[in-house]
Formats: sequence, structure tokens, C-alpha cells
Amino acid sequence: MAENYVWIDGIPFPSVCFPPENIRETHEMFMVSDGDIFMVTYPKSGTNWLIEIVCLIQSKGDPTFIKSVPFTERSPWLEISESIKTLRNKKGPRLITSHLPVHLFPKSFFSSKAKVIYLIRNPRDVLVSGYHFWCATTYIKKPESLEEYYENFLQGKVPYGSWFEHIRGWMSQREKENFLMLSYEELKKNTRTSIKEICEFLGETLKAEELELVLKNCSFQVMKAHRKDKDSFLSNNETHFVMMRKGITGDWRFHFTVAQAEEFDKIFQKKMADFPKELFPWE
Ligand code: A3P
Repeated sequence: MAENYVWIDGIPFPSVCFPPENIRETHEMFMVSDGDIFMVTYPKSGTNWLIEIVCLIQSKGDPTFIKSVPFTERSPWLEISESIKTLRNKKGPRLITSHLPVHLFPKSFFSSKAKVIYLIRNPRDVLVSGYHFWCATTYIKKPESLEEYYENFLQGKVPYGSWFEHIRGWMSQREKENFLMLSYEELKKNTRTSIKEICEFLGETLKAEELELVLKNCSFQVMKAHRKDKDSFLSNNETHFVMMRKGITGDWRFHFTVAQAEEFDKIFQKKMADFPKELFPWE
């Protein structure tokens, strides 16, 4: 397994796309601007859904932009080498995506007024979604079974490390006014309210008909249809399929054994005991 990853400050990154010097340079040198808007997630938490929503809010629900420009250009991935150049030439307000844990995030962010939307998701569903994604892609050695992936996930031996540490780290920012934490589950259950919350955080207003357009164009079905031929790095059908796989909450129930579910509950409760339960709407 070790050969799949480069380890940076205890975090495994897929070695095919993350030169260690890049991550360090981003951390030390990347200049965050006050107008920047970051969408930060642990992988498989609904990142692309959030990007779509924010882009649609900015275009007042008009899907022309999201249909014609791939998401990697609309909101470049901070830690991927090619993004730095794209970001340097991008006019503000820049939308930027990242999965980085807080301790590897650009230092300049912490003295800026840039905004972060941090989207979390039930780690059980993150695990299942991640398992299907890594099985269908070639970034890391394919997991042999869900059982193996489950064990690796609990030990943080999966891309971007431990879910628990990622969440714990970013939670340290949650009282700040330039930080908005949302959950996939709330977004799913009450998309309208969550979109309004994002608008308020970003200082955007939508007319009623614009909000309807955002809602329509960020739905799972419409996104799945839009995405089909747009994303250059996801050109084969199989990979496209796993990016927009099921889009539901609670899929883990169809994959975990009773023993795994019980063990996961115990681990979750132990590791997240010092946070109020309300922060995790799936619990
Ligand atoms: P599943 O694999 O459980 O279906 P990310 O963008 O962080 O890689 O997350 C991918 C997950 O978000 C996938 O979950 C995908 O189906 C889900 N997703 C993407 N767009 C969505 C949407 N519009 N509504 C609900 N879920 C969505």
C-alpha cells in the first residue's frame, strides 16, 4: 500500500498527482486574497455538488457557465500542481476547491478575510462512496474489498488521511465568521434552506425564480446529465458513473455488516465525544 502514497505530515496523498513539494509550497507560499471563496471537504463528501451550487448562485441559476466550463477550471483544486498557474491568472472572486486538512492549508488564509465553506458528510457514506470511487479510478491501488477499505479508512490509510482528524482539525475554525459549515445530509434534506444559507454567507441574493433555477440545475439528475461529457479528467463512462453514483444518504446500510456498523458507532462516539452531537445530523 505504501507505494501508492506520498506521506506529508502524516497524511497519505495519492503519489500520482501530489508532488510533496507542491503541497508544502501551497502551505507556505500560496497567497490567499480576501475575496477568495474556498470549498473544502474530505473527499467524497459532496464537493462537486457544492461547487455546482456556488457557481449557480453566482450565475443566478443560469446553467450556461457550468455546462460549458469544467469544474476543475471553474474552481481549481488548490493542491494539484496545474491549479496554481490557473489560479494566478484567475480574476476574483476566485472559487477554489480543496481537500487539504487544516494544518496543510495555506498559511496566508488564516490572516485573510477569504471565506471557507466546509461540507461534511456521514463518514460511513463517505467510506462507501470512496470505496467505489477508488475502485473505479487509477489514483491508488484498487482496494481488494470493502472490508480492506473499511480497515484502512479507520486507520486513516486512505487518500487525505483520517476523516476524524480532518473534521476535528477544521472544526477549530467553526466559530469564525468567514467559515460556514454545512452537511451533505442537511443539503439533501433541505436544499432550499441550505442554498439560502450559502447565499447569506456569500453576500448574494437570489430572486425567487433564480433560486428555483439553482435548485433545478443542482439536482442529482440534472447534474448527472450535465456532467456526462464535460469533465476532461473523467472521460470514461465508468469514472463518470462513480462521480455521480447514487447521491443518497444512508447507503452505508446496504454495505456494512452488523459488526462493522457497531464498531463504527463506538469509534465515532469515542473520537468525536468532545463535539456536540447536533454538529453531526446523521448521528
Ligand atoms: P455517492 O458515491 O454516495 O453517490 P465528491 O464530489 O466529494 O467526490 O462526492 C461525491 C458524492 O457526492 C457521490 O456520492 C455523488 O453521487 C454525490 N453527489 C454529487 N452530486 C450530487 C447531487 N447533486 N445531489 C446529491 N449527491 C450528489
